[in-house]
This record gives sequence, C-alpha cells and structure tokens, in this order.
Amino acid sequence: MTSDTIADPRSPVARPRRRGPNLEKWGWIYMRLSGVVLVVLIFGHLFVNLVAGDGIRQIDFAFVVGKYASPFWQWWDVLMLWLALIHGANGMRTIINDYVTHHGTRRVLVWAVTLAAAFLILLGTLVVFTFDPCLGVTQDSSLWDMCQG
Ligand code: HEM
Repeated sequence: MTSDTIADPRSPVARPRRRGPNLEKWGWIYMRLSGVVLVVLIFGHLFVNLVAGDGIRQIDFAFVVGKYASPFWQWWDVLMLWLALIHGANGMRTIINDYVTHHGTRRVLVWAVTLAAAFLILLGTLVVFTFDPCLGVTQDSSLWDMCQG
C-alpha cells in the first residue's frame, strides 16, 4: 500500500484498543436509548402542561405547586433533566471531538461541557426535591391559609 492509498475501512486498527469497557460504544447506545425515552418524556411534559386541562392558561405558581406535590411528576421531571442533560452533553462532546483538532482546546471544551452539565443536574435535582411553596410565606400572602395545614 502506498502512502496515498486509503486503508480498507474494515482492516484491523494499527494500535489495539485499550482494555476495559468500550465507552464510545456505550455512548452511542445511550444516545439512541435516551432519545427514545426522551420522546415520551418531552411530549408527555408538553401535553400535560400545554394541552390537557385549561391548556397554556393554567400555568402559574399554583400549577407548579400542584405538580411538585406529586412524586410521580417530581421523578418525571428529574428523569427528563438527567437524560436530556447527559444526552446533550455527550452530543456536544461528539461535536467538539469532530471539529476541534487542537488536543488542549478539546480537553478544555469537553471539561467545560461536563462541568456545566454536572452543575445543572445537581442544581435541578435539588430544586425538584427540595421545592417548598410555603418557604418564607407571610400572613399577607394568598398561600398563607394553604400553608397552615
Ligand atoms: C426528543 C428526543 C430526542 C431524540 C429522539 C434524540 C436523538 C438523538 C440521536 C439518535 C442522536 C445521535 C446522532 C448521531 O450519532 O449521529 C442525537 C444527538 C444529539 N442530540 Fe439528541 N435527541 C433528542 C433530544 C435532545 C435534547 C433534548 C438535546 C439537548 C439537550 C439533544 C442534543 C443532542 C446533541 C447536541 C447531539 C449531537 C449531534 C451530533 O452528533 O451532531 N437531543 N440525538
């Protein structure tokens, strides 16, 4: 083979892959599986919030309070948050690896995406599970009666 011949795509790689799990393969599978689950979660979320009941007019603080009183919707939203952020971050990693040729720049960008996703996952999960509509409610608030129970 001369230097200007492109190797057969199915020929064995010159340097064998390192031992251990093939993370690129699992990442590829994760994108497909999370995509399928996200279709259900995202369209279910849009339907319940924007179409069912009074539609878009029903969305206010009380609507959010009602939804987050139920562990079902807490877990629905947290699952959507985790799957979408890991999916989005892994997708951004793919794009960075495709387009950024400088090794150092690539490392910095992939780390930045990873940290941003980890921070948002932590923050979002804390918000969903610690949400308390009665926090700081005073007597002049319309929530006062509800919060006395
Ligand atoms: C509605 C459900 C979704 C489905 C079915 C879906 C499906 C997919 C699939 C199959 C891939 C891999 C494409 C490839 O390897 O060539 C992908 C890539 C990607 N997804 Fe999603 N996705 C969904 C939602 C999202 C959301 C909510 C985000 C953002 C948070 C997102 C961001 C990305 C990014 C950045 C990529 C990489 C694109 C690329 O490689 O060029 N996706 N998506």
